[in-house]
Amino acid sequence: MNFTGILIGLATFVIIGIFHPIVIKAEYHLSKRCWWLFLLAGIVFAVLSLFVGSVMGATIAGVLAFSCFWSVFELFEQEKRVKRGWFPEKRRRNYDFDEIIPRRGTNSYEWDSAPNDDIIPLWVADMDFRTAKPVIDALRKRVDHGIFGYTRVPDEYYDAVIGWFSRRHGLHIEKDWIIYTSGVVPAVSAVIKALTVPGDRVLIQTPVYNCFFSSIRNNGCEAVSSPLRRMGNTFEIDFDDFAAKAADPKVKVFLLCSPHNPAGRVWTRAELQKMGEICMENGVTVISDEIHCELVYPGYKHIPFASLSPDFAAHSVTCVSPSKAFNIAGLQIADIVAADPGLRAKIDRAININEVCDVNPFGVIATIAAYNEGEEWLEQLISYLKGNYDFMKAFCAEKLPEFPVADLQGTYLAWMDCRVLGEKSEVLEEELMKDAGIWLNAGTMYGAEGEGWLRWNLACPRARLEEGLNRFLGFVRRRI
Ligand SMILES: Cc1ncc(COP(=O)(O)O)c(C=O)c1O
Repeated sequence: MNFTGILIGLATFVIIGIFHPIVIKAEYHLSKRCWWLFLLAGIVFAVLSLFVGSVMGATIAGVLAFSCFWSVFELFEQEKRVKRGWFPEKRRRNYDFDEIIPRRGTNSYEWDSAPNDDIIPLWVADMDFRTAKPVIDALRKRVDHGIFGYTRVPDEYYDAVIGWFSRRHGLHIEKDWIIYTSGVVPAVSAVIKALTVPGDRVLIQTPVYNCFFSSIRNNGCEAVSSPLRRMGNTFEIDFDDFAAKAADPKVKVFLLCSPHNPAGRVWTRAELQKMGEICMENGVTVISDEIHCELVYPGYKHIPFASLSPDFAAHSVTCVSPSKAFNIAGLQIADIVAADPGLRAKIDRAININEVCDVNPFGVIATIAAYNEGEEWLEQLISYLKGNYDFMKAFCAEKLPEFPVADLQGTYLAWMDCRVLGEKSEVLEEELMKDAGIWLNAGTMYGAEGEGWLRWNLACPRARLEEGLNRFLGFVRRRI
């Protein structure tokens, strides 16, 4: 018996065994290329084994080579069947969220605004991940056409929005309830304009997304806050305070952030029901900003405000966009969903007055692809983001126990209590950038209740988050 030959055969086995998981993880076209490589490797090993005179080694390598050939053949066949439309492509594509993709020099607001290249930016709410492949493919096809004139919004767009919200959120939407516009901030601003007159008040729950303040102010209104109450590691609504503020006759609108940025809350059915009832009793219309609705972690469920009852649907307006979840904020597209025709007519008018009634072709194409074909990517993204949050929690529990991080039920924005440092948030933001090379958001951007807090954007490769946390730790150790 020739042991060298057998060893060669076994080596082939081991090599293919090691690479096999990579092959099944690889994308469709790549995996075919890999199988060809293995086939070639099998043939080479078979010839080598024969050369050293081992029939056994040659047989093992030959069998492996044949099985590789069979796999390639199968992939071709499957592709043909998919093309003929016999069955949809079922093959799972695995996305690599660990990949470090340089963003400097792409005019990224988050990256290219940093004063120097050593800073890790973890502030603006977009992600350092490439979007879903179907979205990129659809955009590429549109770019290849080369003509980028004014666009209309086709039926396919409405079907994609309606299908997505029915499938994923159990929200019934009809085509004429949808008003598209160039972003959720323009949407919120136009809806405030439609529902208020200057001097009216808008109820919010601070700390809350900073542009809420400017949208209210820019429409000549006044923000009235019912601050969220800290409860252990999370935040809850002070319903007595909320009811008292909603009863103010000047309060015409409640601007709900659901899920909540930056508190990380995914509101429960009971909470939404109670907020809704208080608003209905006081004739307050609800604007529900649900831009973060896709980014909800296991154990929690996003409940669209308008899905709670026909009455709630008639007295509310929902603002949504695929931009946060699919990382296409730069493509500037969003939808306002209003079931009530009277509300819709006012909003239509405000959208036209504000001149935000046009969208760009890329936003339309990307929305259709994201909602129709992006679910697989989204599921993997959510599980990666959850991993990042768990990583941060474990890191802080071990090394930064004096810096509690609020429970993250939804969004990729973690809210960290840094009051132990006794510094103002804005000073902390500056010093962290200067002394530690990380850029976080000062908590006071989200209202006075954010004093002493910082907001972390966790939507980046884990290695980058780890580096950011280590830099923060170094900063803290130099301070305390
Ligand atoms: C609650 C909320 N609404 C709206 C936006 C921004 O929406 P857009 O970029 O579509 O204007 C953000 C961005 O972070 C957000 O957190």
